[in-house]
Amino acid sequence: MGSWLVDELLGRGHSVISVDDLSGGYMRNVNKDCTFIKGDLRDTALVNRVVSDVDIIYHLAAYAAEGQSVFSPIEINDINIKSMNNLLVAAINRSVKRFVFTSSMAVYGRQKAPFSEEMPRLPEDPYGAGKAYCENMLEIFQAAYGMDYTIIRPHNVYGPRQNIADPFRNVLGIWINRLMSGKAPILYGTGKQVRAFSYIEESNLAIANAGFRDGARNQIINVGSPEHVTINDACSMVLELMASEQRPEYSPGRLLEVEVAYSTTGKSEELLDYRHLHTLEDGLREMIDWAKQVGPQEPSYRLPLEITKSAPKVWADKLI
Ligand SMILES: NC(=O)c1ccc[n+]([C@@H]2O[C@H](COP(=O)([O-])OP(=O)(O)OC[C@H]3O[C@@H](n4cnc5c(N)ncnc54)[C@H](O)[C@@H]3O)[C@@H](O)[C@H]2O)c1
Repeated sequence: MGSWLVDELLGRGHSVISVDDLSGGYMRNVNKDCTFIKGDLRDTALVNRVVSDVDIIYHLAAYAAEGQSVFSPIEINDINIKSMNNLLVAAINRSVKRFVFTSSMAVYGRQKAPFSEEMPRLPEDPYGAGKAYCENMLEIFQAAYGMDYTIIRPHNVYGPRQNIADPFRNVLGIWINRLMSGKAPILYGTGKQVRAFSYIEESNLAIANAGFRDGARNQIINVGSPEHVTINDACSMVLELMASEQRPEYSPGRLLEVEVAYSTTGKSEELLDYRHLHTLEDGLREMIDWAKQVGPQEPSYRLPLEITKSAPKVWADKLI
């Protein structure tokens, strides 16, 4: 998502500094017209150096493996929370004008979909709890120091450039990668979970707008597709578009996975000009074309499971 955003901001004539430790991103996605710094945002000195003369911070860096966070809470929230605290403090000290933060639908937990922005934060897993902390810190520092924020809650973003080698996240990408390697797609539980997969191109425009729109100041805004599907149907679509003879392989349901997650879209349409332009089928065609160019990727188990109790066997035994 960050690389798409950098392209968009450069295209609008802004100068952009991009920081990424490339733990989950790829150098091939970095626009040569931005100032790129390879570094870990947990490094306080680095963050203080980078945030010396910027108007807007867009903070997207994270390890976004929601399902894995139940089993690897120490490392995941060390990355997600320490980076946020470093950026917040630097932003206050350097009088940054706006802090745009990509939170997550995970902060809604198990409340009844469609999730709307007025609902309370009731996260059900460590990743969601970390995002809720970050959101709350922005509110606290807005009240204390007057720094404006916009909190975006993106919803299951997919599309070209996505990391398809991470076995713990990005379900469409995992399926596409497995199919390219001649393996069956894995589904957890019944496959009746509902999600609103959202194409990167349109989510990206809304996120870019978040830094500049007056109406988006100090707002929480869902950014996700109005089209929602079951995981079974999404999988059938991927199989069909890839002309695959494979059949879904069902694994037991995952601990704490939310069944139905999709959100209202009115606020993003009104405040960020979000428009749903790609059906899931359109977006998947684009993503599959891109994935075929990149080719099958070796799965990369970046962070170890800190708890193996109740962990999916396919994760514990590295079967993906
Ligand atoms: N993709 C989605 O469906 C989705 C949904 C909701 C929220 N989000 C949020 O949006 C943001 C972007 O997600 P994405 O899908 O592009 O994820 P991604 O993993 O593709 O990108 C995150 C980037 O952060 C970098 N990074 C990780 N830890 C870092 C660190 N300590 N220092 C510097 N860089 C670091 C990674 O190398 C990677 O390039 C994340 O904050 C994620 O939580 C994503």
